[in-house]
Amino acid sequence: MARIESRSPDFKVRLMDRWPLYYWRRYPLFLKANGWSFSRVQTIPRGAVRQALELGYLRWPKALATWCLGKDVVDVGCGMGLHGVGFLLEGAMSYTGVDPLIKPKSGVLKSLHSGKKLDCGWTPDRLMEHMERFRMIRGISNELEGKMLFDVATLHNATEHLTDLPEVFDSVARLLRPGGRLIFSHHNWFSWNGHHQEPKTIGRLDSSLPEHQRFADWAHLTGDHAPDHYVMTKLNRLRLDEVKAITEQHFEIETARTFPSTVNQGAGRLTDPIRARHPELSEADLTTQSLFCVARLKG
Ligand SMILES: C[S@@+](CC[C@H](N)C(=O)[O-])C[C@H]1O[C@@H](n2cnc3c(N)ncnc32)[C@H](O)[C@@H]1O
Repeated sequence: MARIESRSPDFKVRLMDRWPLYYWRRYPLFLKANGWSFSRVQTIPRGAVRQALELGYLRWPKALATWCLGKDVVDVGCGMGLHGVGFLLEGAMSYTGVDPLIKPKSGVLKSLHSGKKLDCGWTPDRLMEHMERFRMIRGISNELEGKMLFDVATLHNATEHLTDLPEVFDSVARLLRPGGRLIFSHHNWFSWNGHHQEPKTIGRLDSSLPEHQRFADWAHLTGDHAPDHYVMTKLNRLRLDEVKAITEQHFEIETARTFPSTVNQGAGRLTDPIRARHPELSEADLTTQSLFCVARLKG
């Protein structure tokens, strides 16, 4: 145990991801290995913790634990709420999720492991009933302005979907207390699977399928997409430098860590003909999967 406790959050999350049921069956061990005390978790329903664990919703809060302990956290573009379970486990003072697509009576959400949608039974209403410091609000971030203030704003894989990212960050800046932090993870449009369409992984690629040929191996960058296609309406297609510049309008960037695509995410498939089609893009533009950014409110 002592060895596990002294390891990094990333290591612990990998263990949980790999052997979730091993940890689950030994709940006290599971809590201890993650640095959670019984007193912290007693107000959080065990069933919701189990769902969050099995569906991969504890990973992001674990990675943000050092910034969120004792803080009021707002999760912009939160989806269906299970990340909030993780933030409370990590010791956040409160969690508020905001998203225009919240369905208070639906427990359907996407497994972050498999990408499949399923009904986990934990609806936003049910989660709010069980946890006092947990709120989910259907709407967009600027609707919270003047009503609430937070210490940390988080966006998990939401920034690439916000066609009005500068306006959303303007409003996030107004929602934060002085010295508050913005923390986000941004999936890069220019990466092998930045299109969010199939094939999302090399394992799912079938080069004989015309619908895969439209997107695979960076074809999405030159594809002639209809104006109402998902990639045109639901993705902002920003360069990582643009995302950073938008962030710097109100925030001082403290950490900007890029993650290269893995083999299953297309690493190694970039060829000279593809590079030649995109002289405006660097090797890093094409092979970076995501950007993790921590930024502090200016002023
Ligand atoms: C890909 S989902 C990410 C959901 C969740 N963060 C997760 O990791 O599972 C992006 C979410 O951003 C939400 N969204 C889009 N525009 C928004 C806005 N202006 N304010 C808040 N949420 C927004 C969408 O409704 C969608 O649920």
